[in-house]
Amino acid sequence: MKKLKLIGPFKQLVTMTGLPLKGALSDEQLTIVEDAGILIEEGNIKAIGLFKNMVLNVDHTTTEITRLEGDHVCLPGFIDAHTHICFGGSRAKDYAMRNAGKTYLEIAKAGGGIWDTVTQTRKASTEELIKKIIKRTKQHLKNGVTTLEVKSGYGLSVTEELKMLRAIKSSNAQTPLDLIPTCLAAHMKPKDFMGTNTAYLKEISNTLFPILKEENLSNRIDAFIEESAFSKEEIRPYFEKAIAMDFDITVHADQFSTGGSAIAVEFGAISADHLEASTDKEIELLSKSNVIATALPGASLGLGCAFTPARKLLDAGCAVAIASDHNPGSAPMGDLLTQAAILQTFEKLSNAEVLAGITYRAAAALNVSDRGQLKEGLLADFVLFHTSDYHEILYNQGAFKPCMVFKNGALIF
Ligand code: NIG
Ligand code: FE
Repeated sequence: MKKLKLIGPFKQLVTMTGLPLKGALSDEQLTIVEDAGILIEEGNIKAIGLFKNMVLNVDHTTTEITRLEGDHVCLPGFIDAHTHICFGGSRAKDYAMRNAGKTYLEIAKAGGGIWDTVTQTRKASTEELIKKIIKRTKQHLKNGVTTLEVKSGYGLSVTEELKMLRAIKSSNAQTPLDLIPTCLAAHMKPKDFMGTNTAYLKEISNTLFPILKEENLSNRIDAFIEESAFSKEEIRPYFEKAIAMDFDITVHADQFSTGGSAIAVEFGAISADHLEASTDKEIELLSKSNVIATALPGASLGLGCAFTPARKLLDAGCAVAIASDHNPGSAPMGDLLTQAAILQTFEKLSNAEVLAGITYRAAAALNVSDRGQLKEGLLADFVLFHTSDYHEILYNQGAFKPCMVFKNGALIF
């Protein structure tokens, strides 16, 4: 096998480089290389340039050249920085009940809500969970996602959270996508835990956190800060412990009520996700911090609620990522590109802002710096669309799918 690969020509290659991490973007700021090629070495980008020049300059004895027919637009592989795709069961009944006007409490009483998924996930074996995760990653892959964050949070005991995180780790080894695991044991206090919220969080941080480190299961700790889950006061000692152990923090913040974003800022979280209920006060606080604000339009669509105020966040100077929140309860769709395109039209976002939200700004939300842009030295993760104009991609609101997806320089779809 030859050592290098050269692929092209791409009518347009949108690098997503040279753009600020924070704030509003216009399409004019995008760097677009026309008739481009990508040279790949050992899964990384070695060079980007004019394809026909690259063909002349590479050593043909060591370089395998792939010449594409027709027009293609090339973008960095999409990064979905917030999902819950490790779960058993379905919550289709919840969805129907919500749409019939039932309240959260009525749904919970009828056996729905997060606890239903916890019960179903606990029933599933590790192997069953792996199968489900891999099946769901295939769906994401077809939509151009090459890196996908996956949370635990439906186990809610040391043993069951470990089962989920081990399943995520095994799935990562069995799928071409990169799965980035996050521990969301602080999703809610399990109904079978006979103690206070604080006691539950203490048990998790004392017992589970060290095992996460030992088995290299996750480097990220998430918590749902909400009236129905954990309060700011309850979460402080939990996050203090996580930070002392060198975990990255991320927060389910301001989904229905505010408070989570302030905690995210206080603890220097990598990201604060949801933010549908954030007001000008929270937006200002976030804008003065380095916390990435992650919009989750899939949850707004699933719940029929307001969207994250992405326009206001960007105008205030925040870095906005966009993720699918793929989960059985609030966001069953799991189609990042469609959701990002829908958010675009409701929030009046530029193409550059949306694409940044699912590429380099999403990478920042996961604290990874080796992807999300197309430039020398980064992973050769990229998606191709059969068109000559990148505007066509979001214009088609997710119905226009990638024709090819590359991960670490290999064609995986
Ligand atoms: O991100 N907000 C809390 N957690 C998930 C929903 C989980 C569920 O309903 O199963 C979310 O929307
Ligand atoms: Fe979530």
